[in-house]
Amino acid sequence: MTHLSFVLTADGSKTLFNEKVGEHYHSRHGALQESIHVFLKSGLLFYLDKNKANKASILEVGFGTGLNFLVTADYCTKNDIPIHYTGIEAYPLDEKMITETGYNDYVSPEVWESFLKNYPAALSKPVQINPDRSLFIANSTLMNFRSEHLFDVVYFDAFAAIHQPEMWTIESLSHLCNYLKPGGIFVTYAITGELKRTMKSIGFSIEKAPGAPGKREMLRAVKS
Ligand SMILES: C[S@@+](CC[C@H](N)C(=O)[O-])C[C@H]1O[C@@H](n2cnc3c(N)ncnc32)[C@H](O)[C@@H]1O
Repeated sequence: MTHLSFVLTADGSKTLFNEKVGEHYHSRHGALQESIHVFLKSGLLFYLDKNKANKASILEVGFGTGLNFLVTADYCTKNDIPIHYTGIEAYPLDEKMITETGYNDYVSPEVWESFLKNYPAALSKPVQINPDRSLFIANSTLMNFRSEHLFDVVYFDAFAAIHQPEMWTIESLSHLCNYLKPGGIFVTYAITGELKRTMKSIGFSIEKAPGAPGKREMLRAVKS
C-alpha cells in the first residue's frame, strides 16, 4: 500500500494520505475531533436522543481505518448502548496499517484488542466486538453494496466531492439511503448547495449543523 502514508493532524491523532486520490482520510484539523463531532455526537447521539432510543444500527461509507467505528463502539460500550455496525469499504487496509494508526490511545484496551483480533475477519462475516456490539465490513463498492437490513444512522465519510465526485451523485446517495429507515439520520462532514438539493430531492429534510474544527457547518439529514 505504497500510495498510503500516515500524517499527523492538529489534535495529535493520525490520518492517512492517499496519493492516488490526492486526499486525506480525515480532517487535517483533527481526525479524532472530526470523528467524535460529526459522526458520534451529530449522528448517533442525535438519533438516540431524538428517538428516545437505546440501541441503533449504523451504516458507514467508507470504513477505512475504522476510527469512526472505534470511537462509536467505545462510547457505546461505556454507556451500555447495543449497536450493529456495518462499514462499506472498497479498498480495505491491511492489518499492519490498522495496527499503526495509534487509535488504541483513544479507546479502551478491550475494544481495541477485540477490533484487532477480528480484523480482517469482519470483512467476510459479522463479528462480535463484545456481547452487544457487532461489526461487519462489506468489502464492496458503494454501488455494489446490498443488504437485507435497514439502518438507523448513516455515517457518510467518502472522500470529498472534488476528489471522488461519483460518491456524491444522486444515484450513489439514493442507493445508499435506500438502506436507511424512515426517520433515520444521515450525517456527513461537508455541506454544499448541491448536496442539500440532492438530499431534499430523495426525500430528506435537511439541517445545517455546526461543523467540526476547521469547518463552519456540516450536513445532517432526516429521512421522511
Ligand atoms: C475519507 S476516507 C474514510 C475514512 C474512514 N471513515 C476512516 O475513519 O478511516 C474514504 C474511504 O472510502 C473508501 N472508498 C473509496 N471508494 C469507495 C467506493 N466506491 N465504495 C466504498 N468505499 C470507497 C476509501 O478506500 C476510504 O477508505
